[in-house]
Amino acid sequence: MSLLSEFKDRMLSLGLARITEAAALASAVQIGRGNEKIADQAAVDAMREQLNLLDIAGEVVIGEGERDEAPMLYIGEHVGTGNGPEVDIALDPLEGTTLTAKDLPNALTVIAMGPKGSILKSPDVYMEKLAIGPSYPKDIVSLDSSPSEIIKTLARYKGCKPEDISSCVLDRPRHKELIGELRDLGVAVRLITDGDVAAIMHCSEPEVTGIDVYMGIGGAPEGVLAAAALKCLGGQIFGRLLFRNDVEKAKARKMNITNLDKIYTLDELVQADIIFSATGVTDGSLLRGIKKLPGYLETDTILLRSKTGSRRRMVYSHPIQAGK
Ligand code: FBP
Repeated sequence: MSLLSEFKDRMLSLGLARITEAAALASAVQIGRGNEKIADQAAVDAMREQLNLLDIAGEVVIGEGERDEAPMLYIGEHVGTGNGPEVDIALDPLEGTTLTAKDLPNALTVIAMGPKGSILKSPDVYMEKLAIGPSYPKDIVSLDSSPSEIIKTLARYKGCKPEDISSCVLDRPRHKELIGELRDLGVAVRLITDGDVAAIMHCSEPEVTGIDVYMGIGGAPEGVLAAAALKCLGGQIFGRLLFRNDVEKAKARKMNITNLDKIYTLDELVQADIIFSATGVTDGSLLRGIKKLPGYLETDTILLRSKTGSRRRMVYSHPIQAGK
């Protein structure tokens, strides 16, 4: 049996939306309260509870960290009822813990699911990332090229000048040189404080979001989740794991990653058709955040299937029970 036929993606996709909705609702009370840890824990608990209701034999391959550092939803944790297809799960119960704690835009709850063996099992290290939209031929850019070469190539294919290209970069001291090089070329740089899953998803619709290219170093788990989103939305992503020390390298080897310098393409980060769900926590350019209405909390979710390319936008009104 092929990988694809074993995976009941259509049936499971609504369950996936319920999971990100529940995580978003749980973290909603923590928006703007200044405590990243409590906000994250609320999302983790809710996501795990919902995940365990699904009829799957799931393994978390991208999660909250290694087993010894994350008590729940750690890499390698088995989730689901055990009655159903064997699946890989990549998740981030709260992508943008600081965004949530400070009530800043673009905090999301995110999950992706694919057949067993389909999603890269990666340690929680950094990843160098490069993402572009769906309108370019395959492999016209590479992580081995300089930012200037990348921008000039994109401009050539887009039929515009480098200064007409817009980029997005995490605002970190490590990106000083990158930002300088982009600005020297006249490229517009949208600096974000956090949340590169949403930022990379922006590349799939540059005419709507104004972002042509995402560049820079962020979390590897977020890189894999962003690849899952682009697998459904269209676009290209390249990622190279970055290790700060031997402990991180050892973690990768334990996960059967032998070539530590490898540049992963989208189809290597996510090797089969998958389903993806994200729910907005705070208002963002991709999704609306949680809305408090009389008697209800309202969520906004995007649910994607790569096999069909289908995109669902779902608004869920969650009744607030008296006394809760
Ligand atoms: P958290 O939600 O775990 O705080 O991650 C937010 C985030 O901004 C990611 O989107 C990004 O990939 C990563 O942190 C960047 O890491 P760092 O803050 O160490 O630069």
